[in-house]
Amino acid sequence: MKSILDNRSELAKQVNDVAEVAGYLWQKGWAERNGGNITVNITAFADEEIKKLPAISEKIALGRTIENLKGCYFFCKGTNRRMRDLARRPMDNGSIIRITDDCAHYEIIADKPVKPTSELASHLSIHNYMIGKDSDYKAVLHTHPIDLVAMTHNPAFLEKDALTNLLWSMIPETRAFCPRGLGIIPYKMPSTFELADSTIKELEEYDVVMWEKHGVVSVGENIMEAFDMVDTLSKSAQIYMTAKCMGFEPAGTTKEQMDELRDAFNLPK
Ligand code: 13P
Ligand code: ZN
Repeated sequence: MKSILDNRSELAKQVNDVAEVAGYLWQKGWAERNGGNITVNITAFADEEIKKLPAISEKIALGRTIENLKGCYFFCKGTNRRMRDLARRPMDNGSIIRITDDCAHYEIIADKPVKPTSELASHLSIHNYMIGKDSDYKAVLHTHPIDLVAMTHNPAFLEKDALTNLLWSMIPETRAFCPRGLGIIPYKMPSTFELADSTIKELEEYDVVMWEKHGVVSVGENIMEAFDMVDTLSKSAQIYMTAKCMGFEPAGTTKEQMDELRDAFNLPK
């Protein structure tokens, strides 16, 4: 079957990277059933031929006007589609959408009319935010890591920066590769603009955002970077849990050791 990816190696690479990460999410146990979603802003790869492609769906309302997205194109995981299926057949379990000129609707253009993720409000609001601040970030990942979600069931970890400081102190890499830490959003109904708006607010301050008792959202220049940040945080959570299972509270690196690392790597304060 013909695909929009045929003879478009750069666009195909973006979609293949999404498929690779979808496989990791399944292997890690972070993607039960259809859990989690991925979108990538692929506007840079939309050539004239793509721009002329007719819609293969109706115009679907976004629920509000999202101003910076005029004429943008996104690859989106399909709603109710499994990550493990996205890994093997990305264009059967995801699709490419175009935002219409009114910035209030989208239409699916390829390959099949697979309806995008139910978290589209959050994903597109984040892309809108990133375009607005001229960021190079093009990928948004939402996933359900067991360890990090479990930690949000303890009210003590929901205090501002409690989880960030704890996870940073487990292994130096976490501070180095997730230098702005983890923001927390109190539980909110999935798929809502309320959740989307809170997420953007936290992204002003943090690299990764935790949706209490649900999952994380991470952004990056590409999907690999977005995945790596969550993977690094999850590794720290695993070290913490392993120490607790061995019957002791992990000591964590000291404030002096963390400050030294921050200065050596030129990390934000
Ligand atoms: P979708 O299948 O609609 O992407 O939803 C999965 C999910 O994790 C919702 O938060
Ligand atoms: Zn979810």
